Amino acid sequence: MQIEAFALERIQSLYENLVEINLSDSGVHPYSLNDLLTADERAGIMSVELGYGWTNGSVELRETLAGLYPGRTSDEILVTNGSAEAIFVMGMTLLEPGDELIVITPNYLQLWGWARAMGVTTVAVPLREELGWAPDLDELAAAITPRTRMISICHPNNPTGSVLTPEQMGGLVALARQHGLWLHADEVYRGTEFSGTESASFADLYERAIVTSGLSKAYALPGLRIGWMVGPATEVATAWGRKDYTSITTGALSEAIATLALQPERRETILARSRRMLGDNLDVVDAWIGQHAGLLSYTRPAATGTVFVRYDLPMNSTDLVHRIREEQSVLLVPGDVFGLDGYLRLGTGPETKTIRAGLERIDAFFAGVLATTR
Ligand SMILES: Cc1ncc(COP(=O)(O)O)c(C=O)c1O
Repeated sequence: MQIEAFALERIQSLYENLVEINLSDSGVHPYSLNDLLTADERAGIMSVELGYGWTNGSVELRETLAGLYPGRTSDEILVTNGSAEAIFVMGMTLLEPGDELIVITPNYLQLWGWARAMGVTTVAVPLREELGWAPDLDELAAAITPRTRMISICHPNNPTGSVLTPEQMGGLVALARQHGLWLHADEVYRGTEFSGTESASFADLYERAIVTSGLSKAYALPGLRIGWMVGPATEVATAWGRKDYTSITTGALSEAIATLALQPERRETILARSRRMLGDNLDVVDAWIGQHAGLLSYTRPAATGTVFVRYDLPMNSTDLVHRIREEQSVLLVPGDVFGLDGYLRLGTGPETKTIRAGLERIDAFFAGVLATTR
């Protein structure tokens, strides 16, 4: 099977551990177990049996997750290794060669690459920056054909940080419903909304929504590798059968810790920490962008741990990112990997001092470039 490189993950896999300052990550500075759990809880973790457990996720964890989606039961939840595995088994469950998949871009393009490898035709429909990085629903409607099977969106959006209004979400659902399409929503950033008001889940709005999510982003626990899929029980059961082929099960320790992390009070504490850290860092990045008017511009994100910055330089974004990496040992993500040259993605999840140090180095880089190109 031929599969194109997953450009976003590849550049990070190759360089994120080699640079001195990594601003390419999209998550929040992670918790340690000491920071996350009480001494009693940690002691409880020590006595968890290291068996296989339930291959669709422990009953307790699935019930906890079902509780996050009103009216859902544990049969409508599949626990996976990261949301990446949820996206993978979801695609393997619902897409067939010859189908068309509309991906609202920019997006985390994992499903895009897998779908193409499977013989699915992918169609990009852009979020429009002039609409605050929202989709133009007429443009979306025009992209639907009799072969379209699914629309996929990342919401809140990586990399732009946009959050749709309830009306925009409703419009998207109405369009999917009108054409009987699956609506895949990657909701790993849900809960980071800086307003403090969590967006509705598409799982609560549409009977043919498939939500994938996990603990890696909003919950600052990527090392647990816990993700999940929410959808109709039949499709969730089929996806479970696909998971028999991928990883069998998730780690028993991770499931036990995830169950503690997702209890209502702890969940709120975790999400509040993420919003506070990301919001404070966003202010730092916002002020920095303001100091570079004419060179840098952006639409301020309403959520997530990324900002998507447009730059005004006669340089391709991949070339620019590699030059900053080589000259300043700072890693950013080029807009190219999202199909949007002329932009850079910068992560706001690291500690503030790391971000400040990274921005100083990028300043030094820009000063050198501007002296020669302008
Ligand atoms: C939008 C989005 N979805 C999914 C993933 C996959 O993450 P994980 O498997 O850690 O949940 C990522 C990782 O960067 C992401 O940014």
